[in-house]
Amino acid sequence: MRSLLRVCGRWFLPAAMTAAAMAAPALAEGDQPANGVFADDDTLPGSYRLHTETDIGGGLWGLGPNRGPAKRASFKADVHDDVAAFDVRHPCTMCHTDEAKDLHVARIGTGCRQCHVSLPIVGMHHDDSPMNPMRRHASVCAACHEGATPSFAGYVVHEPSAISAEAREQFPLLFYAVWFMIFLAGGVLALFIPFTVLWLAREYGGKLRTRGHGRADATVRLKRFTPAMRLWHLALIAAFMLLTVTGLAWMYIETPWGRMLASWFGGPRLTVEVHRITGIVMLAGFAAHIVYALTKVDWRNLPRSLVSPDMLVMTPRDIGNVFRHLGWIFGLCKAPGFDRWTWWGKFDYWAVWWGITVLGVTGLLIYNPVLTSDYMPGWLLNVMTWIHRIEAFLAFTHVFTIHFLVEHFRPGRLPFSAAMFDGTVPLDIARSEHPAWIERLEREGRLAGLMTSEPPVILRILYFGVGYAIMILAVALMAFAFANIMAVSLF
Ligand code: HEC
Ligand code: HEC
Ligand code: HEC
Repeated sequence: MRSLLRVCGRWFLPAAMTAAAMAAPALAEGDQPANGVFADDDTLPGSYRLHTETDIGGGLWGLGPNRGPAKRASFKADVHDDVAAFDVRHPCTMCHTDEAKDLHVARIGTGCRQCHVSLPIVGMHHDDSPMNPMRRHASVCAACHEGATPSFAGYVVHEPSAISAEAREQFPLLFYAVWFMIFLAGGVLALFIPFTVLWLAREYGGKLRTRGHGRADATVRLKRFTPAMRLWHLALIAAFMLLTVTGLAWMYIETPWGRMLASWFGGPRLTVEVHRITGIVMLAGFAAHIVYALTKVDWRNLPRSLVSPDMLVMTPRDIGNVFRHLGWIFGLCKAPGFDRWTWWGKFDYWAVWWGITVLGVTGLLIYNPVLTSDYMPGWLLNVMTWIHRIEAFLAFTHVFTIHFLVEHFRPGRLPFSAAMFDGTVPLDIARSEHPAWIERLEREGRLAGLMTSEPPVILRILYFGVGYAIMILAVALMAFAFANIMAVSLF
């Protein structure tokens, strides 16, 4: 009967009524009944048959989410009518274990019925379902997300496990993006962690053979880092640590450990807020750093000035040094001598650019999902969130393992190198690692001007205390994150 009326409505409506309907005020964005792909009445009983065989959604050349052919049961007015064990008093998660993994349920504690409002529960594709994927009722989300639009509602609440074959079928972009990030992060770590371990073993082996002869004289020191560099580095440490703690707290909020971290900031909501604000501050700092770095470029002597040894631009020479370094580790050639910057120093510097760019862009896109989904499909939020997570794991694992080992745990630096705090290094160390730089300084007569002595004991104790506190916190965070990874229901 209803479909008959619909046909009548379409074909036999008096002209005046059509005009009136056309003159009706445009729907507010949040009230929009359809997602633009399907008309509202496409969900009426009868018309859905058209869509049971076709994929729904799947924008961006089919890479977007599509939930595959709809199940027949999904069109029922009461999906549980033939589920013998069903009892409204039972928790929904008793049977629907996969849906309990979703971020709203697991982290925020949203009840299933806050979204699946009908009683009895209607099938996903039934006309009465507020969650009908064709219609994407933004009003469900708007109960909590002010101003939610149909695009925002396109966010896949129950996303398939991103690495599963299911995801490849139902949400290809999520699947490929996540695997790409896993290979990137895994590749970087799988390459550099063994490299660093072998490198340390080689250096300690060499030290043992010379029985500690040629120990660095810590009192004769060379100024290496300018106050501006030290300030940037300090600000970076502060922002990075704050982002790591708050990010992990939110990621692990289901675990007692995550809740403990969040309690330092006054609970989950404030933790996320601190994370967002710190991210913005870091991006502002990054923008300021770019301006600062541009002022350091000698614009009159381009492009030669870019590859001058005082610049951090990667040159073919650095690439060659990577291989020489590798050769030295395996005893095939002499240790490479560096100019002012080593290849790994440059790599670490540019890695921060890469990290801040990827985390900054994805972070900004999920900062205010209701706003950004006006400019992109809501389901890109799923993808952005995963890229953000994996890149963050790569960033802190790289810094808390490789960076710490290389800068603090090589001979001559152990137990702690305060170079980035006080700006100086022992001349002996500089001479063995940066011979070309020292030679250049001597040639230009600048070496004497850069000589300095050890900072006062009190400052050295301060640097050591602060440095170690940060490193211990960092390594503990990383260890707990990896130890508890299976406790996060998203994995
Ligand atoms: C006794 C186990 C059980 C419990 C408890 C249960 N369900 Fe179900 N649910 C099922 C089964 C079985 C189906 C049918 C699946 C099918 O036929 O495709 C289903 C289907 C659904 C569907 C439709 C899925 C679709 O594809 O359209 C929704 C929505 C749903 N359940 C939500 C809930 C909610 C919300 C609760 C808590 C109030 C709940 N369920 C409690 C077992 C259960
Ligand atoms: C934040 C809102 C929200 C909450 C909370 C929620 N759902 Fe859903 N649910 C949806 C939406 C939207 C869909 C449509 C498909 C999608 O986007 O994943 C859906 C789809 C489903 C489906 C259909 C099959 C599927 O996975 O697509 C089932 C079953 C279901 N939900 C069960 C549950 C259960 C059980 C809970 C509680 C543990 C729950 N939902 C909590 C919004 C929600
Ligand atoms: C019962 C309240 C409630 C409902 C209903 C609800 N949400 Fe949420 N949602 C939240 C809360 C709380 C957060 C986390 C707060 C934050 O991140 O600021 C959140 C976070 C999100 C996020 C950010 C996820 C991330 O990775 O940070 C997205 C996207 C989202 N919701 C989409 C939806 C969509 C789409 C719907 C409708 C299908 C919906 N929500 C319905 C409460 C709700």
